[in-house]
Amino acid sequence: MKITDLANTLTFLCLFGAKFAVAQDISIERGEQTYMRVGCYECHGTDGKGNEAGPPLTPDTLPPEAIANFVRFSPGRMPVYPEEILSDAEIADIVAYLESVKPSPDADSIDILRALVSEEN
Ligand code: HEC
Repeated sequence: MKITDLANTLTFLCLFGAKFAVAQDISIERGEQTYMRVGCYECHGTDGKGNEAGPPLTPDTLPPEAIANFVRFSPGRMPVYPEEILSDAEIADIVAYLESVKPSPDADSIDILRALVSEEN
């Protein structure tokens, strides 16, 4: 291999390698698994809708940078997750999972609830 070929190959790898690193594959399914594995669900509910320990993270999901920032530098009661425990790619998956959670249906749209309320009146 000529030295210019080698240089071209390296340039190619640098340019496209970097591009692949940025355009990483993001997975909602993996995001849900990670969300469960590292314990987000304990304080934010299995579907991110919050519980007594933590606020809801869906359906009005914060921008990805804000979520990543909070996870890394939580100033309050929430534990901080360093890179060794949760990588940036894993946070990106969690964000995709949270964005995929559908809002709960309005109580008025659930027949059985409407029936219960009208029975009471
Ligand atoms: C031990 C409980 C606990 C765990 C585990 C936890 N959180 Fe939290 N989280 C909180 C609490 C409590 C808050 C409210 C702010 C505060 O007091 O720090 C919060 C706030 C947040 C916020 C900011 C919400 C807003 O609207 O300002 C985000 C985003 C968030 N958590 C994401 C996560 C993710 C992602 C995970 C898992 C990697 C996680 N949390 C794990 C307790 C927890």
